[in-house]
Amino acid sequence: MNTPKRYTITAALPYTNGPIHIGHLAGVYVPADIYARYLRLTGNDVAFICGSDEHGVPITIRAKKEGVSPQDIVDKYHKIIKQSFIDFGITFDNYSRTTAKIHHETASEFFTTLYDKGEFIEEVTEQLYDAEAKQFLADRFVIGTCPKCGNEESYGDQCEVCGTSHNATDLINPKSAITGATPTLKKTKHWFLPLDKHEAFLKEWILEGHKKDWKSNVYGQCKSWIDDGLRPRAVTRDLDWGIPVPLDDAEGKVLYVWFDAPIGYISATKEWAKRVGKDWKLYWKDKDTKLVHFIGKDNIVFHCIIFPAMLKAEGSYILPDNVPANEFLNLADSKFSTSKNWAVWLPDYLQDFPNQQDVLRYTLTANAPETKDNNFTWKDFQARNNNELVAIFGNFINRVVVLTHKYYNGIVPIPNDFTSTDEETLAKLKAYPTIISSSIERYRFREALGELMNLARLGNKYLADEEPWKAIKTDEVRVQTIMYVALQISSALAILSEPFLPFTSHKLKKILNVSSSAPDSYRDENNWEDVSNKETLLSAGHQIAKAELLFSKIEDKEIQVQLDKLEATKKVNEADNKVTEPQKDTITFEDFKKLDIRVGTILDAKKIPKTKKLLVLKVDTGIDVRIIVSGIAESFTADEVIGKRVTVLVNLAPRTLRGIESEGMILMTETPEGKLVFVNPDDNANVVNGLQIS
Ligand code: 2FM
Ligand code: ZN
Repeated sequence: MNTPKRYTITAALPYTNGPIHIGHLAGVYVPADIYARYLRLTGNDVAFICGSDEHGVPITIRAKKEGVSPQDIVDKYHKIIKQSFIDFGITFDNYSRTTAKIHHETASEFFTTLYDKGEFIEEVTEQLYDAEAKQFLADRFVIGTCPKCGNEESYGDQCEVCGTSHNATDLINPKSAITGATPTLKKTKHWFLPLDKHEAFLKEWILEGHKKDWKSNVYGQCKSWIDDGLRPRAVTRDLDWGIPVPLDDAEGKVLYVWFDAPIGYISATKEWAKRVGKDWKLYWKDKDTKLVHFIGKDNIVFHCIIFPAMLKAEGSYILPDNVPANEFLNLADSKFSTSKNWAVWLPDYLQDFPNQQDVLRYTLTANAPETKDNNFTWKDFQARNNNELVAIFGNFINRVVVLTHKYYNGIVPIPNDFTSTDEETLAKLKAYPTIISSSIERYRFREALGELMNLARLGNKYLADEEPWKAIKTDEVRVQTIMYVALQISSALAILSEPFLPFTSHKLKKILNVSSSAPDSYRDENNWEDVSNKETLLSAGHQIAKAELLFSKIEDKEIQVQLDKLEATKKVNEADNKVTEPQKDTITFEDFKKLDIRVGTILDAKKIPKTKKLLVLKVDTGIDVRIIVSGIAESFTADEVIGKRVTVLVNLAPRTLRGIESEGMILMTETPEGKLVFVNPDDNANVVNGLQIS
């Protein structure tokens, strides 16, 4: 194993404009937590840093929507988000916030240092302005067509489709997100970071220095930006929410949120170091410290180009060693969307699946969008739990613990001679820490988790081959060895699962009755490297605790509840997005007079088999009783419509549908929500003979 090192690990500061959903967890926080936990378990000095990103337009927009102040919004969501991270076992050493005093001071100082060093260009330029709202339109306050990919809903500072970061004035057909107005141009002074000045350094540092060790998606994006040519980027904004620009002639101006947010990593480290009595500078300025940023792909430009340019310009900081950005996770084939409520919110998950955080951590890691966008479905979640966690991991542990109690009252037996299978199994077991480490250190968390499960599979295969439940009848001495080996595998699983499945690992350590340290010390009696190095992990004579199920089966009905929730959200969104059909061409009164509309009664109704929509109706029209085929079966059952008085167009030319001749049409219309309703005759109305128009 490597010599211990110092690590500063950061996870993207979430915008505090809503709770956290499982897409955030999969892309950033679970992989970052696996990495941090693993490094602590292997004896490294780790500062795992995060906090709430509380400035910027997303917060202001949410505040406007809820009719409260931005401070109210960030106070509310900071609390909710922080709690979700605790609930899901994300072990930040510090979770701070960018409205904290220490952050305002650190970001202001950083700006001043760059200003004093002459690292900014000060320039009056024309910026987009909404005359109606009396406001400059920066960032998410403006939406328009992305000049690079043509996405018509690109934000002013960034296109979420192609990831390009641009200036608001680059947008084609910009529109104010506040009033919908087309903005005008108005002069205003700002400070720009001349990224072009740092181009040579960025080329050398990324394109030459990190070609091999950065993920290809990250490297590729950086290369494309650098190849396109870098331009100066404004680091200040005309807004009233943010950190005031610390200059005399900057009234009403604040730091751009993407200037202050990454500095939040530094302020959060300072806050933590002060609390625990450490020197924060070692974590940001010592060249032996390894800085790693965990982010989603939409943040690549800020962490690989802009923030490093800021750090380089300041001069005294280290640069990131790696930025293992993930692609996106989709939910049931559609992009997560806070505004469309297309998400599985962490507080909701926990309410529906209490104490099942590891099932989610497992599914999200097994499906992590490491190299391409990936998809979360509830069916896959259920299958991963039932077929993998329950059937492989849980089943192995349960058999070992139950048999140990049954044969030895829960005491680890003394092994006898090892067979070659035992030797091989123990040798394989000892190789796992290195195998899993190698994947984690290359940021391949899915692969690492797959290897952990292979260790559980090794245990299952060993038991299935050795069959202690049969051997006990003929060779009790042999069974002692089998159970001893199986218990060593169980103990290894307890240790090696900790980064991925921390709640399970803790529970398993309790079952095996081995020390499990308090969450802030991380080092146990047995650690990662001990799995390879120690002669035994559970010595003969050790008493284990009673059996407890690690995982339980998730039933179809629990999944159906989730599918129904998504379906309901989909319906609401469809209704919201429904475009009202424009009025059709006018018809003449003569045309209208041709329609013979009468009131009839439905005497009988039957669903046409193998069709979704069709009911065959027997209708008394007042003239006759006839058959009408109607496409209303998605809105009404056959029983519901029998006896109903309906409006019928009786002189429509007959049509054959599914082999049945339909003579007329029941008149229906649609509500704005898309629901079909009968054009109901007034109960007292007389039969309309022909047309009665007044
Ligand atoms: O994309 C986001 O949600 C941003 N709030 C991430 C900020 S990361 C950092 F630089 F602070
Ligand atoms: Zn684009």
